[in-house]
Parts: sequence; C-alpha cells; structure tokens
Amino acid sequence: MIRSLLIYLSKAEWARRFVTGWGYARNTALRFVAGETLEEALKAVSVINSRGMTATLDFLGEDTTSLQEAYESAATIRNSIEKIDDLGLRANVSIKLSQLGLAINEKACAANLAAVLRLAAELDTFVRIDMEDSSTVEATFRIQKEMLDDHGYRNVGLVIQSYLYRSEDDTRELIKRNIRIRLVKGAYQEPPNIAYPKKSDVDREFDNLTSILLDASKTRGKLRSGAEGRVPPMAAIATHDERRVAFAKQYAIDIGLQKNALEFQMLYGIRRNLQTALVGEGYPVRIYVPFGARWFPYFMRRLAERPANLWFFLTSLFRK
Ligand code: FDA
Repeated sequence: MIRSLLIYLSKAEWARRFVTGWGYARNTALRFVAGETLEEALKAVSVINSRGMTATLDFLGEDTTSLQEAYESAATIRNSIEKIDDLGLRANVSIKLSQLGLAINEKACAANLAAVLRLAAELDTFVRIDMEDSSTVEATFRIQKEMLDDHGYRNVGLVIQSYLYRSEDDTRELIKRNIRIRLVKGAYQEPPNIAYPKKSDVDREFDNLTSILLDASKTRGKLRSGAEGRVPPMAAIATHDERRVAFAKQYAIDIGLQKNALEFQMLYGIRRNLQTALVGEGYPVRIYVPFGARWFPYFMRRLAERPANLWFFLTSLFRK
C-alpha cells in the first residue's frame, strides 16, 4: 500500500516540485545520491575504488519529454565515460532508455544509444541498460538486439527483474546470446498478471535465476573483459538481501565457480557493511552511483523499498 503510493508519487510532477524544492528532502536524498554534479560523482567513485570496489555511474534523469533533452542526456553520459577514462577510474556507466527518448521516438533513442556505445567501444568499456517498468521491457530487448545485430556492439548488458513471470525465459534467451546480465528483484509497481505480488515468490525466483546465471557462467567460462574493472562478468547479482547473497555464494561454491566469475552489485549508500564484508571475502563488488539534479524518482523508489527509510525521513523531520 505505502509502496504503491510512493511509486505512484515518484512519477507525479506535483510531488516532484513539492519535494525537490525542500532543502531537507534534498539533504536526505543525498544519502542515496553521490551529488548533483559529475565532479561530485567522480570523487565518490574514486573513494569506492580505494575501498577495493568498482562502480557504475548513473546520470539521473529518466522519462525525458523532448528529443533535445534526450540528446543532451546522451551527451552528458558520453562525457561521464570520457571523464572515467581520463581519470583511470574502475567504473562503467548505467543508463535508462527512457532518458534517451524511448517514449518519444524509438529510432532517436536507438541513435542516442549507438552514439554512447560507439564511444564506450573506443574506450574499451561497458554500458549497462537499466530495466524500467514492464511497458518498456520489449523495446529494451529489441534495441539491445539491434545494437548487437546491426552495429556489432557487444559492450552492452541488460537487467533482469525476478518479479516478472517472463524473466526465466528472457534470461535463457539472453544467455544464449552471451549477454551480460544484472539480476535484480525489480523496483516498479506491476500488476499481478505480469509480476509476482508476493515478496517470497520474488525471492524464490531470484535464487532460481541466480542458479541459471551461475550455471551459464560455469559452462561458458570467462567472457572477454575490457579495461580494468570496467566490463563485468556475465552474472551480476544485484541485491542487499543477505539471504540472496548467501545463496549465490553457496551455489557458486557447489558448482566450483571461481569468485571472480560473478560480481555482487549494490546501491550507493545502502548496506555498506555488507559491501565491505564481500570485498574482504574476495568477491568483486560494484557500487551503483547515481548523480544529477533529477534525483526525485530514484529517491522515491528507495523510500518505497524500505518503509523504515520513509519512517526515518518523516521522524527526523519532526525532530528538527
Ligand atoms: P530487499 O528489498 O528484500 O531488501 C533486503 C535488505 O536490503 C533490506 O532488509 C534492507 O536491509 C536493505 N535494503 C534494501 N533496499 C533498501 C533501501 N532502499 N534502503 C535501505 N536499505 C535497503 N531495479 C529495477 O527495476 N531495474 C534496475 O535496472 C535496477 N538496477 C539496480 C542496480 C543495482 C546495483 C541494485 C542493487 C538494484 C537495482 N534495482 C533495479 C533495484 C532492485 O530492483 C530492488 O528494488 C532493490 O535492490 C531492493 O531490493 P533488494 O534486492 O535489496 O532486497
């Protein structure tokens, strides 16, 4: 109920105006966001690298409403890729197709993505396409396939959401084509005819997909990797859920998979203790680092994931 409301508000323009104009909310959001500028985000990545982890940089700004804005977003993403390279950081980028104009014009979106991938290929790095709500899944797969089949770009990976019923079929299909996959539970509000409504089913499916991905990593061996810390392995297990992490670790041990044949991914500002513990155990860990002024929908999804965050946000407001 609270989750649905927060996810609804994440897309409401009036709520965005109300919350982002409020200094207190901005400061709270910055717990989950590395800053509003690229420079701040690059500093955060450098600290993450010094803690033995890699990063993926996300320029916030989904659901662009004009082609000009979509083109400018692609330019900022290219700039981030260049800066990561100039500074020799161990990081790549994550993007959302709605930011590159998917809802306005699919062809223009694909052209923006191709320009990003061209630069990424020149600099021997990787781009992850985040998965948005279920209305975008088909187009996201279609565009990724076009990038590979028509342009030959192999340096692009996708995200699978364990809450969608279709995800096992999608995972098997992507594995056949050697596409690198980030596995997540899913952060949007989906109807019960498309996605598991119960958390226990989403968790069970997450473990099931983890085992499929790790089996594939084992049979396929190591995929080609790019400049240091930039190109992830085939399986990226993205969760802060200790039970899911424990399952993945045990499954990998059971099938004799090396630690560096998978990576764990977590969001900036969430479960730092778990991030550090995994690095200490010798697992690759990548931190998703969002930055930019358009942090509102991202922040609302983080509140929706954990009611305690909303509680903390509201009670500290009253303590002020
Ligand atoms: P779960 O929600 O069960 O949380 C497990 C534990 O983690 C909680 O008990 C708490 O301790 C901690 N935790 C989780 N969320 C927290 C929060 N917001 N604040 C504080 N603590 C929290 N989704 C999507 O639909 N498309 C995508 O492309 C991506 N990309 C992505 C990248 C990366 C690197 C990560 C880690 C996650 C995503 N997600 C995503 C988000 C994902 O779908 C999911 O909503 C969140 O990861 C929360 O689910 P958990 O797996 O952490 O489990």
